[in-house]
Amino acid sequence: MNQPELLLNNGLRMPQLGFGVFQIAAQDCAGVVKTALEAGYRLVDTAQTYCNEREVGRAIRESGLAREDIWVTTKIWVTEYGRGKTHKSLDASLERLGLEYVDMVLLHFPVPSVFERTIGAWQDLEEELTDGRVRAIGVCNFHTHHLERLMEACTIVPAVNQVELHPYLSQQPLMDFHRKHGIATQAWSPLGAVMLYDAAGVDKPVHLLEDRTICALAQRYGKSPAQIVLRWHVQRGVAVIPKSVHAERIRQNLDILDFALSDRDMELMNGLNRNMRGALDPDDVRVDTYATRMYEQ
Ligand code: A2P
Repeated sequence: MNQPELLLNNGLRMPQLGFGVFQIAAQDCAGVVKTALEAGYRLVDTAQTYCNEREVGRAIRESGLAREDIWVTTKIWVTEYGRGKTHKSLDASLERLGLEYVDMVLLHFPVPSVFERTIGAWQDLEEELTDGRVRAIGVCNFHTHHLERLMEACTIVPAVNQVELHPYLSQQPLMDFHRKHGIATQAWSPLGAVMLYDAAGVDKPVHLLEDRTICALAQRYGKSPAQIVLRWHVQRGVAVIPKSVHAERIRQNLDILDFALSDRDMELMNGLNRNMRGALDPDDVRVDTYATRMYEQ
């Protein structure tokens, strides 16, 4: 299968279609990742705090694929930030994954209240590039002002910023900033499954895949709503990491290369934006908000 790739600012090519394992329970994870690799995914995205790095590593080793044919991403949790501390935390991730290197390491969130720790963590990652245990480094959930602060203090521009991004949060201003600075955009929750609520409040969840416009396009193109959304991402130049535990959906989410949305339908999809964020605003992240959620493996 000829899959699209994004050329990163360090010259590496990263698969645009990847498989995310957020909230896949450890006991299911190895099996699900093997299904994804058999289906043709060549990028697996995990994180320290997903508590499934061991199982991701096992699936990769047991897949029969060459290590260099699979792009592996993990993420450093916020409690592990700080000069020197992040090196040690990466040791532990590599140990859990059972791998000699990872293709990409991301800082999971900015920590605006003690940004110097975020900078320390980034400086550790910069050094990892020269030590060869990491091929690319990037960040997650950074607003433009976090990126500006980081780039002011450090040498290497992140290769990727992975953020919440779906048709109800299209992140166009952030993407414009990324383009200007050569940062690739990767979408987490590309299908908008993160809990979205309308202005009426918490008891009215919004289901992106039931959106009327998306469902009408799905019918017209003979595709599922999820495939329409993923195709929109790919045509915008965004990398995606949809998660599913179902083999049929895992395959379906990769099967989006035999059609294209017209310019008019891309505009229609762009018009769905509501700046609706399902997750915590990155400006509000504090180490103590999440300290207790650090993985135990
Ligand atoms: P499941 O794992 O039960 O298949 P996102 O990555 O945007 O957060 O979306 C993940 C969520 O969307 C999961 O709850 C997953 O459920 C569901 N999902 C994944 N692929 C599809 C699909 N093709 N159609 C409908 N729902 C999907």
